[in-house]
Amino acid sequence: MSQKLKILLFLTLFHTHVAFASDPDPLQDFCIAFKDSASGNPSCKNSSAVTVEDFTFSGIKFPGNYSQTGFSATPVNSNVFPGLNTLGMSFVRADFDVGGVNVPHSHPRATETAFVMEGRIYSGFVDTNNRVYAKVVEKGEVMVFPRGLVHFQMNVGDTAASILGSFNSQNPGLQKIPAAIFGSGIEEALLEKAFGLNAKEIAKLRKRFLPH
Ligand SMILES: *[C@@H]1O[C@H](CO)[C@@H](O)[C@H](O)[C@H]1NC(C)=O
Ligand SMILES: *[C@@H]1O[C@H](CO)[C@@H](O)[C@H](O)[C@H]1NC(C)=O
Repeated sequence: MSQKLKILLFLTLFHTHVAFASDPDPLQDFCIAFKDSASGNPSCKNSSAVTVEDFTFSGIKFPGNYSQTGFSATPVNSNVFPGLNTLGMSFVRADFDVGGVNVPHSHPRATETAFVMEGRIYSGFVDTNNRVYAKVVEKGEVMVFPRGLVHFQMNVGDTAASILGSFNSQNPGLQKIPAAIFGSGIEEALLEKAFGLNAKEIAKLRKRFLPH
């Protein structure tokens, strides 16, 4: 085999591997996450003790309280709903006050589909060429946010809005851009140079995004 062909084959295999990266396949019907109280090790709940309650979740019947951007989200991953453990998926309920904003953020381990249950939501994401794909998505419509890409939403209707987001990972992760940059304790001199802001402007942003 020529060197060129070998490299091509390697790249093809590597690419295929990346394209199929996802949560591992389950090795049993289910594995209700359970911390062994004696050892502290995570394991599966003994199946003789599993009931239908382990497969149902009621924590998103009602909206949560709005943040300062008029937004509330209740992520339902395997940490809060142990029945999702090993099943490769999770979801979120999010509610928007009139004008409410879900700030730019990303989920490093999952693609998301966001189904609009109520309202009209300006929704979009940015690809790695900084091209933005955004439009107003209405009740009954869905938008997909590709894995890892920065996305955002704003309620542009004149009533409250809500969505159900679904993820192809039991633990998609969440990185909010404003808090990751200005609320994480990155050296101030670096932020000043990176954003072309002065110390006073950085201080204002830090005050808003550092955890209190
Ligand atoms: C599961 O529970 C049953 C009934 O209590 C018990 O007989 C069995 O040993 C348990 N299995 C494990 C792996 O602990
Ligand atoms: C919302 O706020 C009320 C009043 O502060 C509080 O009692 C309630 O637990 C909060 N709800 C949630 C989901 O955090």
